[in-house]
Amino acid sequence: MLQMLEKIKETTEFIQKNISFKPEIGIILGTGLGGLVNEIDIKHTMSYETIPNFPISTVEGHSGKLIFGILGGKKVIAMQGRFHFYEGYTMQELTFPVRVMKFLGIERLFVSNASGGVNPGFEIGDLMIITDHINLLPDNPLMGKNYPELGPRFPDMSEAYDKAMIQKGIEIAEKLNIKYQMGVYAAVTGPCFETPAEYLRMRNTGGDAVGMSTVPEVIVARHMSVPCFAISIITDLGVPGKIVEVSHEEVIKVANEAEKKMTLLMKELISSL
Ligand code: HPA
Repeated sequence: MLQMLEKIKETTEFIQKNISFKPEIGIILGTGLGGLVNEIDIKHTMSYETIPNFPISTVEGHSGKLIFGILGGKKVIAMQGRFHFYEGYTMQELTFPVRVMKFLGIERLFVSNASGGVNPGFEIGDLMIITDHINLLPDNPLMGKNYPELGPRFPDMSEAYDKAMIQKGIEIAEKLNIKYQMGVYAAVTGPCFETPAEYLRMRNTGGDAVGMSTVPEVIVARHMSVPCFAISIITDLGVPGKIVEVSHEEVIKVANEAEKKMTLLMKELISSL
């Protein structure tokens, strides 16, 4: 059986053999945020199932494709369809594409997701620029053998989300009159949404929003020293007095409504780099 590092190299070589395109920016498109794809001048696409060692997406509303193209004048690689711990992948499997994107050449990673807001100042449909995270998943993608070629055994996480990109993101949001929030994203396994008591616990733990993704990918990116920027769409509220029944359909609906401002902000930020 191939070891992880050999698999990353094999997959990278496969992609490079099929297409000659060196991306500088990686993008993970989360729930209902696929609209950014329409802004990309697409040069190549590859379905996950054709790529050796790649996991295959199973969740409703997520198709699995790697997209290579130009966005805001930059060479980007976008993951259309991401992987979640609740689907049954290991942390190493679900973060594998981030490893490959780094080997292909990315220098920055952009991530979007949907989450439940636990900060009482938030409203449904708000965009939250993620300033930090709390890993409440019962695992870490860096468990097991460490490969010094990828990064250190004990990577620093004091700036998981790049401060300079956050500052630029704020300036762009203000210039474009896009309402934004800032806050800490707490990652849980799901797939069930939280009980009112669990939402309260997230708030008391220091979270502003809770979701089921992003943190594993950011940990792996930071392990490889890739600066990260992430935005979350607040699709529901886990705030006492405001908690109502939540469904995947509702999450997608709100995410789709917020897609336009999210797309604009990400595109402008990428162009400005
Ligand atoms: N909890 C966890 N994940 C989520 C939520 C939530 O309320 N909304 C969207 N993703």
